[in-house]
Amino acid sequence: MASWPRALPALLLGLLLAATPRAHSTEPGLVGRITDKGLEYAAKEGLLALQKELYKITLPDISGDAKVKHIGSVNYKFHSMEIRGCELHNSALKPLPGQGLSLTISDASIWARSDWKVRKRFLRLRGSFDLSVKGITISVNLLLGSEPSGRPMVTASSCNTKICDVDVDISGDLGWLLNLFHNQIESKFRSLLERKLCEMVQKSVASDLQPYLQTLPVTAEIDSFAGIDYSLTGAPRATAQILDVMVKGEIFNRNQRSTVALLAPVMTLPEEHNRMVYFAVSDYVFNTASLVYHEAGHLNFSITDDMVPPDSRIRLTTKSFRPFIPRIARLYPNMNLELQGTVVSPPLLTISPGNLSLTPLMEIEAFVLLPDARRESVFRLGAVTNVSAVLSFNTSRITGFLTPGKVQLELKESKFGVFNVELLEALINYYLLNNLYPKVNEKLGEGFPLPLLKQTELYDLVLQTHKDFLLLGANVQYTAD
Ligand SMILES: *[C@@H]1O[C@H](CO)[C@@H](O)[C@H](O)[C@H]1NC(C)=O
Ligand SMILES: *[C@@H]1O[C@H](CO)[C@@H](O)[C@H](O)[C@H]1NC(C)=O
Ligand SMILES: *[C@@H]1O[C@H](CO)[C@@H](O)[C@H](O)[C@H]1NC(C)=O
Ligand SMILES: *[C@@H]1O[C@H](CO)[C@@H](O)[C@H](O)[C@H]1NC(C)=O
Repeated sequence: MASWPRALPALLLGLLLAATPRAHSTEPGLVGRITDKGLEYAAKEGLLALQKELYKITLPDISGDAKVKHIGSVNYKFHSMEIRGCELHNSALKPLPGQGLSLTISDASIWARSDWKVRKRFLRLRGSFDLSVKGITISVNLLLGSEPSGRPMVTASSCNTKICDVDVDISGDLGWLLNLFHNQIESKFRSLLERKLCEMVQKSVASDLQPYLQTLPVTAEIDSFAGIDYSLTGAPRATAQILDVMVKGEIFNRNQRSTVALLAPVMTLPEEHNRMVYFAVSDYVFNTASLVYHEAGHLNFSITDDMVPPDSRIRLTTKSFRPFIPRIARLYPNMNLELQGTVVSPPLLTISPGNLSLTPLMEIEAFVLLPDARRESVFRLGAVTNVSAVLSFNTSRITGFLTPGKVQLELKESKFGVFNVELLEALINYYLLNNLYPKVNEKLGEGFPLPLLKQTELYDLVLQTHKDFLLLGANVQYTAD
């Protein structure tokens, strides 16, 4: 039996492995990248939001005793203070590797007004003063994480405020009195404001930014049948110049979700960037769609004689098959046939630079429709085709379009021995081109939504194809309400 100390390392290792979140070994299907340019824009928009919050700051009354030269101790109270104006000029949002983002607001100014009262025994004096606060710097770290539900999470930590300059302008006949303890007013306001500004930022992060980030859809509806899972696979990752948000990007059956047996590829995003945001969408996203639509039978098809165009050289009747399978017309005189097709396995999209393609393998089984409504299988064909895909996106959705190549048929099994299947190729090509592909393309044309925060719009769109993924780049516009 292993003794405790000897078994301990193995035990710890076991615990460690068990505790390692699965997310670590799971590649995201989609990565949202926010570049320095995007962060710059976010900082600018954030500043406007903070400016509104600043006006909402309520400053508590300040009271105390002060020693005044020649007069002695007086009791003072500053009350009914309000922020009259503010200017926030500069803000910077920078990645904070391993944590999230650091937000710095610098060179900000605030103007406030307050009433004052001074009491000294029977003496009662009152008036007001204006306060001008300049050179304010607020620095706060925004820690980014993900909730178990896969929603993004942000918390403010280590807030610091520095105020360079506080100016008090006292009006009223007896302003001289306050001038006597000017320094005290300044220092009281400085520390009060420094505390209040950080409280304001922290509150705004918790009550504005966090709910806003949570408008990122964790699942989005594609249609009545499928949805896409945009939950985060881990905390957003900050590196020197960018912030990456990794999401699952798995398309699933909304009525019956099952585990996906596909792995997302490792995506190596290019370093260079000149847009605010990028979305790297791997083949995994499209292939999970292929999986669920295939599994639900949306890629099964059936061809009957009424679908064959009138000018076709061949019809789905045993009579029409007589020239190349004489026995079929003899065994099943004057009967119709039905071709039942299925895509053998979910067709997987291959993305490579300049080329998107898939090679669906199909199987087509031919049945003779007997007079007593039974069906009898008579031969089976294998079908293969190269399909090229075009994917594109607009301000909100990724869409696709397939251009089919010619189908090549191969006889797999036959009750009547070998026959020339080429005659059936035209028929099947006609059906696929006019029925199956338009149906699939209609679906792909509706596309699926991109994971976007509320009130954001994309413009200046660019699209690149890389090995195993598409890279969509765009600038963002926040459309405030
Ligand atoms: C699609 O067709 C195949 C072959 O005929 C069949 O095995 C499968 O059950 C069908 N799928 C659905 C959902 O109908
Ligand atoms: C794209 O890929 C398919 C399948 O791999 C191939 O048949 C086709 O020739 C390629 N086209 C181009 C333009 O590279
Ligand atoms: C598909 O493309 C490959 C490579 O370009 C080619 O060898 C093959 O013959 C094509 N198949 C069909 C059915 O067109
Ligand atoms: C984006 O494409 C989808 C699907 O084609 C379409 O429904 C939508 O209206 C388009 N949006 C814009 C803003 O053009």
